[in-house]
Amino acid sequence: MTSHLVTGIGELVTHDPRFDGPLLDAALVAVDGRIAWVGPAAEAPAADRRTDLSGAAVVPGFVDSHTHLVFAGDRAAEFESRMAGTPYTGGGIATTVAATRAATDDELRTRLRSLADEARAQGTTTIEIKSGYGLDVDTEVRLLRLAREVTDETTFLGAHVVPAGIDRDDYLALVTGEMLTACAPHARWADVFCEPASPVAFDGDEARAVLVAARAVGLGLRVHGNQLGPGPGVQLAVELGAASVDHCTCLTDADVAALADGDTVATLLPGVEFSTRSPYPDARRLLDAGAEVALASDCNPGTCFSTSMPLMIALAVREMGMTIAEAVRAATLGGAHALRRDDLGHLRVGARAHLAVLDAPSHRHLAYRPGVPIARGVSL
Ligand code: NIG
Ligand code: FE
Repeated sequence: MTSHLVTGIGELVTHDPRFDGPLLDAALVAVDGRIAWVGPAAEAPAADRRTDLSGAAVVPGFVDSHTHLVFAGDRAAEFESRMAGTPYTGGGIATTVAATRAATDDELRTRLRSLADEARAQGTTTIEIKSGYGLDVDTEVRLLRLAREVTDETTFLGAHVVPAGIDRDDYLALVTGEMLTACAPHARWADVFCEPASPVAFDGDEARAVLVAARAVGLGLRVHGNQLGPGPGVQLAVELGAASVDHCTCLTDADVAALADGDTVATLLPGVEFSTRSPYPDARRLLDAGAEVALASDCNPGTCFSTSMPLMIALAVREMGMTIAEAVRAATLGGAHALRRDDLGHLRVGARAHLAVLDAPSHRHLAYRPGVPIARGVSL
């Protein structure tokens, strides 16, 4: 048993209801990777090791609950053409699928590890990673095995799009049958891109079939929904008890009410709206209705090639009507709830001792200093 005392914390965001907001001049103790004590520096107990942060602010490590980090290839030209006015439809996913299928495990692993390191260097201490650029049995299994080398939070996204060269119904049978059976041992979650507005994604009935089959083999559920237009994704996610429905860009009043009443977290991905030049989701409307909101990066080569959770916080504050405190909460505790993890996203006693240490005196700098690398992830 090793105890580690961290002192000199100028401002500490814990999300602990015992405290009224952030603690100033704080300290914490971790024992074997868990928070054992949090409080004013003057009351800190002794410990085996000691680190002084010289006044830095600390928030819980970011929980990025939505990424697609296992892929090969480059879609910078697609991004450039989108900036010139071409709309996003999901069609570019096929480009990444072709490059990913052709890549070796080592090529995929090198890219994956460098992106995961990049995320940690910006304060992310937990990351969810989806498959979905394989779309055949062998490649989907390969992607999930690689993702598992980096995180326990792996998600089977065979139902990303219907790939070229296979009939739609045959592909649905594969994703709910042989591919699911092969992938389930390597995944905690299943996800589906439910988007009637896209020619390549899945409609409500298809998405329901995917989710029901995944649930039957013990996977938790997540949904990509309501990104490109209104659709059944949100209602389906809430009805089936999905942990999260992600994007939530185009919501009706009934969708907002369902999210407020249900247990499904609304995960907003503002990097996608930034990188597809689309209107941002209305976070204020969701929060005011009482829905739980998470922020995630959706890092992927098509719609948002950024691992930066501080960027997502800055966008949420500048563009989506969230206060800085709400955005930091959504990027930490919200992400943890979107992954149904009660040991992450806060710094109460018993939590994982995962920190984002800021080269700044206050958590406000996460939105106030956009684009500046002030956060780093630390696991004690
Ligand atoms: O979350 N919406 C579907 N999937 C990704 C985009 C994938 C891609 O374009 O490569 C997303 O935005
Ligand atoms: Fe996504």
